Amino acid sequence: MENALYCGDNLEVLEKIEKESVDLIYIDPPFFSNRQYEVIWHDEAEIRSFEDRWEGGIENYIAWMKPRVQLMDKVLKPTGSFYLHCDWHANAYLRIMMDKIFERNNFRNEIIWYYRRWTNVSMNFQRMHDVIFWYSKTDDYTFNKLFQPFSDKTIHRKISRDGITNLAKTRDLEKGIVMHDVWDIPYVHSQSKERQGYPTQKPEALLERIITASSKEGDVVLDAFCGCGTAMAVAHRLKRKWIGIDISPTAIKLVEKRLKKMGVVKDEHYKSIGLPTTEKELKKLKPFEFQNWVMDEMDARISKCKVGDMGIDGYLTKTLYHEKAGIQVKQSDNVGRNVIDNFETALKREKYRQGYIVSFSFTKGAYEEVARLRNAAELEIKLITAQELLDKRKAKG
Ligand SMILES: C[S@@+](CC[C@H](N)C(=O)[O-])C[C@H]1O[C@@H](n2cnc3c(N)ncnc32)[C@H](O)[C@@H]1O
Repeated sequence: MENALYCGDNLEVLEKIEKESVDLIYIDPPFFSNRQYEVIWHDEAEIRSFEDRWEGGIENYIAWMKPRVQLMDKVLKPTGSFYLHCDWHANAYLRIMMDKIFERNNFRNEIIWYYRRWTNVSMNFQRMHDVIFWYSKTDDYTFNKLFQPFSDKTIHRKISRDGITNLAKTRDLEKGIVMHDVWDIPYVHSQSKERQGYPTQKPEALLERIITASSKEGDVVLDAFCGCGTAMAVAHRLKRKWIGIDISPTAIKLVEKRLKKMGVVKDEHYKSIGLPTTEKELKKLKPFEFQNWVMDEMDARISKCKVGDMGIDGYLTKTLYHEKAGIQVKQSDNVGRNVIDNFETALKREKYRQGYIVSFSFTKGAYEEVARLRNAAELEIKLITAQELLDKRKAKG
């Protein structure tokens, strides 16, 4: 099996995966948290968000999850393991759902991922953990025992009590104790080297434990809600094969970049399937996904304050004249002169002399207005169609 990255709804993609072909599944689905995630990307505010709202309540959420987990059960080998990452919002409901799909006797552990983070004072104990349910498919499952180091206190106590008289005892001390089900692993904080800027990115150390414990080199690891690809990056590093799925093109593009930085090359080490390649597909994207797509294709930054930017969605820092250029994105056809006029005002207010408007098509009036501004040497506005960006991408390969 080839490594693969799919952009699409996992409900459809999972149907394409061969039955009983996967050794380990880890999923970290959107929680029942009633929030929309936004994230600060480097020093700029960039919306990389995904919907996490479930109108109709928890039952709807579970009804949404169930067919997906059932499909995952089908693609899992009899020796395989399934890890589901969740938190207090839905864990009780998910556990009951999982017991039914995987059978209660295949429940192996409830892992508590304990972390520390800044929280506001509130009228309850501070929430500092997530829950990971581990199920095997049968009794015959892969498990490589992991060990955790003794604390310094324990080592001192052991030495003062037993003394270290032979090598075996020293080795025992180095090996530590069999790993517990409470894992103290730091959150991916804002200064962290592994940070990709994706909301809810999970630490590599967490995935490393799961993948090391429940798979061998050459095994296939699947993450059907892969986000910015933590499971893929770790699986690759640990010499596992992998399949990643995410519905968001923003996420999949981020995974591609993350892998590239690791020297993992598209079309050579893995195939990437499902990113939009036609106008029709781009038209179907959610507005923020389309905007992210445009900014990424143009190598641009998204504007800091979304509300106050008044017409400038993003900007380029590297331009022909080494000046900043504003960008406006319209996910529509026949963008007309009025849009140019408003953009002109916004650019002048921000003291930009250059700008780009990206849309699917422009009216004759729009092109005429742009020519007028250029001739009057007032502003250099370029009109770019999404098709041009698609063609550029195609030419790049
Ligand atoms: C909690 S995040 C995963 C974060 C990931 N573990 C990481 O370390 O980056 C959940 C992801 O599920 C994706 N998602 C939501 N619905 C989906 C669906 N139906 N199919 C595939 N992915 C989906 C979202 O786009 C989001 O990236």
